[in-house]
Amino acid sequence: KRRIAVLTSGGDAPGMNGAVRAVVRMAIHSGSVAFAVHEGYEGLVAGGDLIKQMNWEDVRGWLSRGGTLIGSARSMRFRERSGRLAAAKNLVLRGIDALVVCGGDGSLTGADVFRSEWPSLLLELVKSGDLTEAQITPYTSLNIVGLVGSIDNDMSGTDATIGCYSSLTRICDAVDDVFDTATSHQRGFVIEVMGRHCGWLALMSAISTGADWLFIPEMPPRDGWEDDMCSVITKNRERGKRRTIVIVAEGAQDRHLNKIGSTTVKDILSTRLGLDTRVTVLGHTQRGGPPCAYDRTLSTLQGVEAVKAVLDVAPDAPSPVIIIRENKIERMPLMEAVKQTQEVAARIKAKDFDTAMALRDSE
Ligand code: F6P
Repeated sequence: KRRIAVLTSGGDAPGMNGAVRAVVRMAIHSGSVAFAVHEGYEGLVAGGDLIKQMNWEDVRGWLSRGGTLIGSARSMRFRERSGRLAAAKNLVLRGIDALVVCGGDGSLTGADVFRSEWPSLLLELVKSGDLTEAQITPYTSLNIVGLVGSIDNDMSGTDATIGCYSSLTRICDAVDDVFDTATSHQRGFVIEVMGRHCGWLALMSAISTGADWLFIPEMPPRDGWEDDMCSVITKNRERGKRRTIVIVAEGAQDRHLNKIGSTTVKDILSTRLGLDTRVTVLGHTQRGGPPCAYDRTLSTLQGVEAVKAVLDVAPDAPSPVIIIRENKIERMPLMEAVKQTQEVAARIKAKDFDTAMALRDSE
């Protein structure tokens, strides 16, 4: 009988509750015992009643709920070995031998570090007298399975992360709303969307709403972009467009890695084109709210697959992450996906934007 815990970590994303529900129910369905760790890795470190056994009905109604009902945190303590020692002890004391983590690339990397340190953590706990040989013997390995929850769709290897389509839908709805008022006053609007390192939300929302121009971190505009942007907008206005929409990812930058902020863009539209322009920062409204249908099915199918992976992946095999590729739910080595993701970030930092975009395209 396996004892499987699930936690959510990092920024919350719509659909995380669906993932927890699916893990809990699939674990119970397969004869295992399910646990939920509250407050992300903080709960793992603190233990106590932050690690709760879950019953089938405990997750009733969770599919349609936004945020993460078991809480999330960006835990500093888990980054320290002392925190991971406490976490290991808490798991062993409860007989938990598998952990499903739903989070972004940072959270999943933390999980993999934990798995690779597992034997040495247990030995250290025996040495310090926190656990006995007999207590650790049944738990020589820890299964880790990753689920990617992030509104940014910023993980390589998967076509979609849990939450990204809900967020995209919310952005589109917000831009549609702004359209109405912008058209009424013939105004310009600069709309800032989330995406510190990844422009997927900005790109997809610009396509979905017919925006006039957009800025994303991985494909900065060429020098002189101010003229390019103004001439496109002028042309659009001459064709009779009564409003102008520019979408800016929060991590937008130029080719020299200088930030392109929404206020800078607004000032250009106001001074160069004389457009009455406003800035709308969508902020955390993009992360909240009920998950869309796609995120409900994605999180359910992936949660089920995560438990299957716990049950049939050899304990010493590399940790898998559950992905979706060409509409199929699949597994890939977690650290391969993380490495590819970090490679894109490194290419952007090195101003090698062509490779960064090529890597994104091949994802
Ligand atoms: O979830 C990812 C993300 O939405 C980023 O796009 C954004 O920069 C970040 O989270 C902000 O998160 P927080 O306000 O929780 O630090």
